[in-house]
Order: sequence, then C-alpha cells, then structure tokens
Amino acid sequence: MTSPAPIDLHTDPKLFDGVDVYAVAGNPISHSKSPLIHARFAQQSKQAMHYGRLQPELGGFAKAAQEFFTAGGKGMNVTVPFKLDAQALADVLTPRAQLAGAVNTLWNRDGKVYGDNTDGAGLVRDLLAQGIALHGARILLVGAGGAARGVLGPLLDQSPKHLVLANRSSAKADELVALFAGLAKAKNTTLESATLESLEDAKRTTPFDLVINATAAGLDNQSPLSNTAAANIFVPSSFAYEMLYGKTTSFMQQALQRGSRVSDGLGMLVEQAADAFLLWRGADLATTIDPRVVLAELRS
Ligand code: ATR
Repeated sequence: MTSPAPIDLHTDPKLFDGVDVYAVAGNPISHSKSPLIHARFAQQSKQAMHYGRLQPELGGFAKAAQEFFTAGGKGMNVTVPFKLDAQALADVLTPRAQLAGAVNTLWNRDGKVYGDNTDGAGLVRDLLAQGIALHGARILLVGAGGAARGVLGPLLDQSPKHLVLANRSSAKADELVALFAGLAKAKNTTLESATLESLEDAKRTTPFDLVINATAAGLDNQSPLSNTAAANIFVPSSFAYEMLYGKTTSFMQQALQRGSRVSDGLGMLVEQAADAFLLWRGADLATTIDPRVVLAELRS
C-alpha cells in the first residue's frame, strides 16, 4: 500500500468547496508568513480564497504538487528546498523563470501547470519602495547560488552601471556572469565576477551604492564578508540589503558599523507574494492591494 498523500488537512482543496485554494510548499514550512500575507491581500481586494501550508517530504514535492492540483488547487508558492523541483514540474515556464533557473509560483490553467519566479521583481520593488536608485548604480551581489541567480535578471533590467557578482568559490560566479552577459550588455551594465577574497584588496575594491547578501551565511550567524572586505565596500551612502529576515545579521551589523543604511528581506517576501497574488487573481487587482501596509503590519 502506498503512503497517503502528504497534503496538510487544512490545505486539501476538496475541503474547501466553492473557494479557490492556494498553498505554500516548503520543508520546513510551519514558520512561513505567506498564509498571513495572502490572507491580508485577499481581505484588501475582497477575494474569497483559502491559502494553506504544505510540507512535502524531501524528494516528494512532485507527488504532493500533482495531488494538490489534481484535487483542484489553483496555485502554489514554493520555497526552500523545492524551487528547482517546481521548475521541473511546470509544463510552461515564463521567460524570467527560465532565466532564474527556479520557480516560486505555480498555477493551474486549463489542465496545464505554469511556473514563474517573482523573487527578483519582489526584491527590485522593495528596493525602489525604500528609495534606492538602481539605474546607474554600482551594485555588489554576494552569492552565486539559487537566490542570487533568481534576482540577477530583474536587477540587470534596471540598468545599473556596474554589477559585481562575488562568491566564495569563483567557478559559480563565473558561470552566472557568463549566463547573464547578454542581458548585461543590452542594459549597458558592466557585469563582473569576483571572489570574496579579492574584495579584501583595497586597491581593487571601491565602495558600492548597494550591497545585497544573497548567501545563506546569516543562517549560521556568519557574514560572507570579512571585516577587511566590509571596510572597502561600505561607506555611509551605501545601502546593505540582507535577503534573510527576522534578525540583524552579521552582514547588516558590518554595514551599520560603517554608517550605511540596512534592510532585511521582509519587504522582498511581501512584494514577491504580491506578484504571485496578482498572477493568480488578476493584474486588475493591483490597485486594491497594498503590500507596504501588509509589510508595516508584519513589522509591528
Ligand atoms: P540558495 O538557493 O539559498 O542561493 P545555494 O544554491 O546552496 O542556496 O547557494 C548558497 C550560496 O551561499 C552560495 O553562493 C554559497 O557559496 P559557495 O558557492 O562558495 O558555496 C554561499 N554561502 C553559503 N554559506 C556561506 C558562507 N558562510 N560564506 C560565504 N558564502 C556562503
């Protein structure tokens, strides 16, 4: 006998007759703020919907997602560690999901599963909402994993002057730079890779307008930057953006010590959710939802 589907009882679409059902899938998932965020967007735009949590077993994403959609699920957000599985599952990928190499938003339309990635757009909107100019800026993106790849395209779309992609191991950074070289050229952006170590060289490293930490180092209470590198990179006019949220990480502390402004990634979470909500429920609802109000509520 096969084991029962790992559908959270509060998310099984069959239990919500007449109401469109959505879910966020991740492992672990109990900490996710997405149900709260989407419930507020639904309230603001007067949409009747249910949004629950799913925790597929590792290796069990495809089965759980297929069962969710077969049971009538309308759409799904996907978080760690299933964004690559979600990309593999989608029948149709948007161009930005292809470029991002990962999917955070799925929806079912006419029996086909569509996949998109709203992470990069969410980051860009949060930065712009905080008054950070991206056009013509000097940006340092730290990390070359899935999180960095997911935001690189939307950042380049804003035509920064210079974007340096720095990673602990150079091979991954070189790979991403090669992959995005065409887009960078079209946007008149100088796109370069660097190692974290090379940022310690004061002769070769000048301060940046915007430094984004797309590594997972903060989860281990570490910063990807040494203090020597941080001293070269941050000045009071710099803005440091940490993609994690919920704590002041070592990376943020390094920036604060040098007088720079900092932000965690909670705004990115809310803004990527807003894009997913509009993909599912209709772009015409854009004027009815207010992600900045939802963000302020989450922070209070
Ligand atoms: P994600 O999807 O979160 O980006 P990932 O694809 O595993 O996860 O990538 C993790 C990124 O964080 C990588 O850029 C990794 O650097 P390496 O490619 O050199 O492994 C980076 N990273 C993780 N922990 C780090 C640390 N303590 N210091 C510096 N970089 C770190």
